[in-house]
Amino acid sequence: MTYRKINDLLLHNQVIASELEEALKRVLHSGWFALGPEVEGFEQNFASYCGTQYCKGVANGTDALEIGLRALGVEPGSEVITVANAGMYSSTAILAIGAKPVYADIEPDSFVMDAAHAESLIGPDTAALVVTHLFGRMADMPAFCALAEKHGIPLLEDCAQAHGASLAGHESKKAGSWGDVAAFSFYPTKNLGAIGDGGAIVTSSSEIHERIVRLRQYGWESKYRVVDRGGCNSRLDELQAAVLNVKLQHLDSWTQQRQQIGQTYSETINHVHVKTPEAVAGHVYHLYVLKSEHRDALQAHLKAHEIATDIHYPLLDYQQPVFAGEAISKQQLTNSEANVAQILTVPCYPELDDAGLQTVVAAINSWEL
Ligand SMILES: Cc1ncc(COP(=O)(O)O)c(C=O)c1O
Repeated sequence: MTYRKINDLLLHNQVIASELEEALKRVLHSGWFALGPEVEGFEQNFASYCGTQYCKGVANGTDALEIGLRALGVEPGSEVITVANAGMYSSTAILAIGAKPVYADIEPDSFVMDAAHAESLIGPDTAALVVTHLFGRMADMPAFCALAEKHGIPLLEDCAQAHGASLAGHESKKAGSWGDVAAFSFYPTKNLGAIGDGGAIVTSSSEIHERIVRLRQYGWESKYRVVDRGGCNSRLDELQAAVLNVKLQHLDSWTQQRQQIGQTYSETINHVHVKTPEAVAGHVYHLYVLKSEHRDALQAHLKAHEIATDIHYPLLDYQQPVFAGEAISKQQLTNSEANVAQILTVPCYPELDDAGLQTVVAAINSWEL
């Protein structure tokens, strides 16, 4: 019955319960609860996993985006280019700074930003580019790096859905090591998830790293001495870091399980009205997202078979009620809008067993329109 959930966190954590309990106990008896040895250990381990010089733990992925953008020099009134189909997270961070999100369209079939369209939006107020590796698939980073260099614009990778992802031909270079800065979320459902909120920012620039260290703790240069505006309290706690240290050791094997599920779906779903995501190397299948011109009927059909589905995400950022009446809400992006009406997420997580997977495939293939 593993098909009844999009993700089963109870099952996921039960598999490694004894390792987690040991780590939690260690923190409880250490007397140190925020930004301590567990966090420092995790920061080192995760930087080395991503192939970056530095990693700093923060409270969640949205803070990671905001602090990352501030560290890149984004200021109130400036523009940040991002996508509109990624759940409003980057927009939330951009708006929190008082900057303006400028939305680039996505490529027709990959769900990720179209580099040519992004380039056409660069203007005198552009302060940064946020590239989101959505659903576990990386964007075309060689193209974005070239574009950022050509125009002298800093590049932030949103890796909240792409822990350990890579690109074909660049297998040893992981998501997060391409841009000037990268933001990660460890929300419990993520491929690397804590048992509460958590996030991290990685970079290989010592200057940016120093800014992040200050911004995540009130703008402190040293204790009680504030030198940066825009600082906040965004610390990763020791319990979450201890959990993440345990889970990081399992991440690659969980990723392989996700990739196996993704491959089986792609090879066996064969309904004429269902399009499976492009099967590209290095995809880490945070979410398995199908497309159908009859999406609502497909969702109802799967519901009748008790199969869990979801829509990531039902509204483009500029369609969110918060922008109602503003010029930004009038925007139209062809590929983003075509996708938002067709996307449907089906169960894909390491503990989805073969019977569950086959149930999903059989239900889709037997769907009668
Ligand atoms: C693509 C993306 N970016 C950013 C975030 C924000 O992360 P958090 O929920 O930890 O703030 C999320 C996740 O929720 C996400 O999926």
